Amino acid sequence: MVNGLAKVLPGKTADEEEMLELLAFNEKMAELGKMAAGVVHELNTPLSVIVSATQMILREEGLSDFVREMVDRINLEANRLAELTKGVLTFTRREGGGGEETDVNQVMREVLAFLRYEAQKRSIAILEDLDFRLPYIAAEANRIKQIFINLVMNAIQAMGHSGKLFLRSSRGPESTVMVQITDTGMGIPAEIVEHLFTPFFTTKGPGEGTGLGLYVTKRLLDAIGGTIAVQSAVGEGTTFTLTFPVAE
Ligand SMILES: Nc1ncnc2c1ncn2[C@@H]1O[C@H](COP(=O)(O)OP(=O)(O)OP(=O)(O)O)[C@@H](O)[C@H]1O
Ligand SMILES: [Mg+2]
Repeated sequence: MVNGLAKVLPGKTADEEEMLELLAFNEKMAELGKMAAGVVHELNTPLSVIVSATQMILREEGLSDFVREMVDRINLEANRLAELTKGVLTFTRREGGGGEETDVNQVMREVLAFLRYEAQKRSIAILEDLDFRLPYIAAEANRIKQIFINLVMNAIQAMGHSGKLFLRSSRGPESTVMVQITDTGMGIPAEIVEHLFTPFFTTKGPGEGTGLGLYVTKRLLDAIGGTIAVQSAVGEGTTFTLTFPVAE
């Protein structure tokens, strides 16, 4: 995988940027897709039992109006839940969510709704301090989603099996919105910090990381006029601070 990509990189073809982004996106989505599949799998089995059992009851003759109404409701709600699990899967699709103005809190909530299960599994607490009076930012929601996923996934991975994840949104300097993602993970040694945004730089084992997450994140931020900065202490944790330009 990495070798194949390395061949593409020095070439600097016209589509290089698009391709890198796509590859990193697919990698991330494949990982998320696996987690989502786990949740959906666990939910779908009992849900389909509920749906078909209630349908069978409703086909019976001689039910009282009350029983019929209650079972009908159970059937309706179980169907609704089944739709919801499908919704989890559509999150990992690439299309949709266009538009050039984005509510960062909304995107953050979507990303969290999606990663909450993974965090819970690892005993990671999520603490939010979001300012809901923020203006919209000038960027496409899908791009922002990708940035948050990359950073939150890194944070979760850095904490392993316990910790705290803090998410803050506020007004930034000048006409910007600021987002901070803090973890209580292993931290980043000072000598590594300068390499973080280099393509393929990773400290994770083969199959665990491609080293493209932060590179792509930086590229996406550059493209929309945003910034990223990192503050870290080994053994204590890391904070990534982002700024996004406010929409006109
Ligand atoms: N929150 C963090 N805490 C500690 N180290 C981090 C954190 N975020 C990034 N890093 C370090 O930066 C490296 C590069 O991160 P990046 O997201 O670019 O790649 P990756 O996570 O290794 O792989 P990929 O994101 O492509 O799956 C990581 O391997 C890790 O060493
Ligand atoms: Mg990463």
